[in-house]
Parts: sequence; C-alpha cells; structure tokens
Amino acid sequence: MIQLRNVSYTYPEATTPALNGISLDIAAGEVCAVIGPNGAGKSTLCYTIAGFAPYHFRGELTGEVVVDGRRTVEHPLGELVKHCGLVFHNPLNQISGARYTVREEPAFGLENLGMPRPYMQARVNDVLELLGIAALAERSPFELSGGQQQRVALASILVMGPRVLLLDEPTSQLDPHGTKEVFAAIKALSQTGVTVVLIEHKPELVAEFADRVIVLHGGQVQLDGAPRAVLADPRLPPLGVSVARYTQLAHTARERGLWPAQAPLPVTLDETVAGFELPSINPSSSRPAHGSGQ
Ligand SMILES: Nc1ncnc2c1ncn2[C@@H]1O[C@H](COP(=O)(O)OP(=O)(O)OP(=O)(O)O)[C@@H](O)[C@H]1O
Ligand SMILES: [Mg+2]
Repeated sequence: MIQLRNVSYTYPEATTPALNGISLDIAAGEVCAVIGPNGAGKSTLCYTIAGFAPYHFRGELTGEVVVDGRRTVEHPLGELVKHCGLVFHNPLNQISGARYTVREEPAFGLENLGMPRPYMQARVNDVLELLGIAALAERSPFELSGGQQQRVALASILVMGPRVLLLDEPTSQLDPHGTKEVFAAIKALSQTGVTVVLIEHKPELVAEFADRVIVLHGGQVQLDGAPRAVLADPRLPPLGVSVARYTQLAHTARERGLWPAQAPLPVTLDETVAGFELPSINPSSSRPAHGSGQ
C-alpha cells in the first residue's frame, strides 16, 4: 500500500536531509508504529508519504514514494489527501477556523468534495460517535481541551474515508480513557483494511496496537520488526529511545536470575505479571495459595 524506494528529503535551507535513503513497504491493513528520538524524522516521514513534503514544505525529495498505486510526485496534493489522511501533531494545524461548531468541522472537507447533505450528516455523526465526541457536536472547536481538539482533527480526516491514515502522536494530549477510545477506533479501522502509520511514544500502546515497529534515527530506519522484538531490543537506548519500564524491570530480574534467560522480555504490565507467574520462574506461584508468594 505504501512503498518508499531510497527516499531522501531535505527541507529548504537545511544542510542535512531529514530523511536519508529510506526504503519501506507497508502492506494494506498494517498498523505500523514509528518511534525514534526528537528530530529523528518521524513527522517528516509522514509528511513525505502524504505528499506534504515536498508540495507544502517545498525542499528537495529524491527517490520514489508510491501510495495506493500513486506516485506522489505525479498527483496534486488535493487529490492525494482524498486517499491518504494526515493528522498533524498539533490539532490546531488541522482545524479549519472556517466553521463554528465541532459538527461542521468534519463536514467542511465533505462539502469541498460536493457530497450530498444527508449522506454527509450521517457520516459526520458516525465519526463523532466513533471517537466519543458526539456530545461536543454543537460546541466551538476553539473552546475545547487539547485532547478534544485532537479528536476533532482526527474526525475531519476519518470522515473522508482515507485508505491510508498517518497519525502524528494522535493521543499526546488525551487522558488514558480518551486514548483508549481513539486507539480502539484506529484498530477498528485497520480491521476494515485501512493502512495506519502511527507515531507514538508510549511502548505499551505500540505493543498492544501495532503490527510492526520502525525505529528512525538520523532520518534512517535503524530497526524494523515485530513490536515485542523491537521494543525490547537492547539497541534502543543507544538510539535515544527508552525501553518500557516493564521491559527494564524484567531485564533487571533476568540479571538476578528471576527471569529465564531465553524468555522474551515483556512490554506490557499483563505480560510482566504473566511472566512472573510462570512456575519455571517463580516455583512458589505453582503451589496452592499460601501467602502471596512473598
Ligand atoms: N520545517 C522545517 N524546516 C527545516 N527543518 C526542519 C523542519 N521541520 C523539521 N526539520 C528538521 O528535520 C529533522 C526531522 O524533524 P522531524 O520533525 O521530522 O522529527 P521528529 O522525529 O518528528 O521529531 P519530534 O519527536 O521532535 O516530533 C530535524 O532535524 C528537524 O530539525
Ligand atoms: Mg514530530
């Protein structure tokens, strides 16, 4: 669905490329998380897949970017955005400012496509419901919290029904409940065949929702693989990415002989608890309850 062949991109007046020789294939329906330290090129990767680089940011792109069969350089941005939706890190970049209510905001994009009104209303309602913001429909987008604005920005993209969704830290301003709702919506979309590229820092969310993790550093792909393997990879800290607390805990436990050398390190709380409950690790847990294993 997304193919990058030796892609490099340099912003105008920058001396070093923000992306440097990236080649990637992302399959239809895949949820691909992108992690890496500040300045690694994560946002730029999304801008490049979406066509904003170079169309919007200018600069110099080399190599080939093909999304849903279209070479981005051969199509105007106005056409690319119908198929590939980008949700910016800052929701205020997305909110048009041309509409008064949350309900009108996603409708704006559909109006521009000339959609019939009843279809448009039903579609907007569905998306607001999906993202848990139906109750905010008559409010002004500018009087909402950052997390609510993030969901409005996401709604404006989802309503267009893109086949590819690029999400730049879509829940950075959301509380845990809102984050869960948004991730459930993203998962449901991917199950309908939508391809998702997700920039996300929280390892537990990545482990739960992504099919694959790419680690960027210095504009290059440094690691690329299954979430559990990548998130527990000892090469992460030198790349400026901290490993999950649970992974660190199990790593320390392993050094003290409390976690088997051959067992994979966990990323989530559930995996950690399950790991410590394994009889081979903690023989006391296989005995009938007699104290709490302390
Ligand atoms: N508009 C711009 N003009 C010039 N250079 C830019 C621009 N935006 C980003 N860069 C540079 O491109 C490189 C990659 O930046 P990018 O924003 O893609 O990183 P990132 O991984 O998304 O970082 P963060 O975690 O801080 O969001 C950095 O060196 C950054 O300084
Ligand atoms: Mg960024």
